[in-house]
Amino acid sequence: MTHDPNQLLKDLGRHQLVDGYPLLVDLDRSHGSWIHDRIHDCEFLDAFTCFASWPIGYNHPGFLEPEMLETFKRASLSKVSNSDLYCEDLCRFVDTFAQHATPDGFPHHFWVSGGALAVENAMKTAFDWKARKLGRTNFDDPVEDLLILHFREAFHGRSGYTMSVTNTLPDKVGLYPKFDWPRVHNPTVHYDLDGNISNEVAAEETRACGEIEAAFAKAESEGRHIAAILIEPMQGEGGDNHFRPEFMQALRNFADEREALLLYDEVQTGFFGSGKPWFWQHQGVAPDVVSFGKKTQVCGIYASSRVEEVEDHVFARSSRINSTWGGNLVDMVRCQRILEIIVEENLADHITSIGDHVIQGLRSIARETEAFTNVRGRGSLIAFTFNPAEARREMIAALFDRRVIALPSGEDSVRFRLPLNITKDDADELLNRVESCVPLLTRA
Ligand SMILES: Cc1ncc(COP(=O)(O)O)c(C=O)c1O
Repeated sequence: MTHDPNQLLKDLGRHQLVDGYPLLVDLDRSHGSWIHDRIHDCEFLDAFTCFASWPIGYNHPGFLEPEMLETFKRASLSKVSNSDLYCEDLCRFVDTFAQHATPDGFPHHFWVSGGALAVENAMKTAFDWKARKLGRTNFDDPVEDLLILHFREAFHGRSGYTMSVTNTLPDKVGLYPKFDWPRVHNPTVHYDLDGNISNEVAAEETRACGEIEAAFAKAESEGRHIAAILIEPMQGEGGDNHFRPEFMQALRNFADEREALLLYDEVQTGFFGSGKPWFWQHQGVAPDVVSFGKKTQVCGIYASSRVEEVEDHVFARSSRINSTWGGNLVDMVRCQRILEIIVEENLADHITSIGDHVIQGLRSIARETEAFTNVRGRGSLIAFTFNPAEARREMIAALFDRRVIALPSGEDSVRFRLPLNITKDDADELLNRVESCVPLLTRA
């Protein structure tokens, strides 16, 4: 096989769709927030982190210590079925995760590969819980009347159940059969350039709560049951849409009063991306089940003891939620090391202050140039909005020309997903490159 990077990509295209970035990553030479590209023999500043999944940059020295390399070697030489065959590396990983990542009050864990499957298993947890609450404990009891209430502009994945609740771009879910579950308004906060709320968000929340009320009433009138309310505490793919704590509290109240579980999808927002272990901790409203993935490497859910209100719940009864591998051991030991590094280097505080710095920098560029608005975010999760939306496409293209990889978000926003350990110098370089792109926008 050739080593020529252009030829390698060409050959790849003979066997699969190659519609991603026109780069060939050099994993040895990439470092920190910089991706080394073999095609152009240059470095790209990583403001996308593999879609918010790669938390501490490339070739972190903490990964290269001899003991760690031994652990990686051991974990990769055998692929055990973790759900049923337990080894010490698994035990150490779960203990570290429970100690440093799981919030108090969530005694149940489940591991699986892939974010969509994590969300799907949160939904299964809710279906099983609600069915049992309704007295249906025989496995042939009918359950087609159970529903998941979810939000407009939600993205929860592209597998099985999750396609029925994902509704960003139609190409992701169109032409696949789906369930017709209640979908309601998402009352997003908009910010001015001082960081104050600039829209009538209370009115938006009233509208959303009215639609939720109506969805419960409709379900009841049809003899159907809402098993769960599912929401991303900040919608990522749908537009970096933030919600007020007041709204999350309203969801908590609905879930408690109507006997539904409150499910948070933190696949994109979780695991210190916001500067706290979980995004919901900024809003202060605890859910019943959280699905996670991406930065955690291995995906899964954690659940509160509310699931114990029914006998034989999915964390007690064998085989109700399961998969052969129960997550991947290599991902687990990588997650454990990442978590140790996050704690050792206090990356939660670091990314909080870097995030504030980048947001302030973007706001001052926006004030001076009027190129974009609604700069928002927490920690590594930052976005800003263009009007007209076409200028967003131009900004992402201009950034790529300046060797920055950034992502679109929703219809009109750019989103950054920064490494948790990005240096202040690299963050300043990112701001410089954004500023240098503004004159290139035809609509600025
Ligand atoms: C909020 C959210 N949920 C679920 C998913 C699906 O994760 P995966 O692509 O790993 O299946 C994503 C992926 O972007 C996501 O952002």
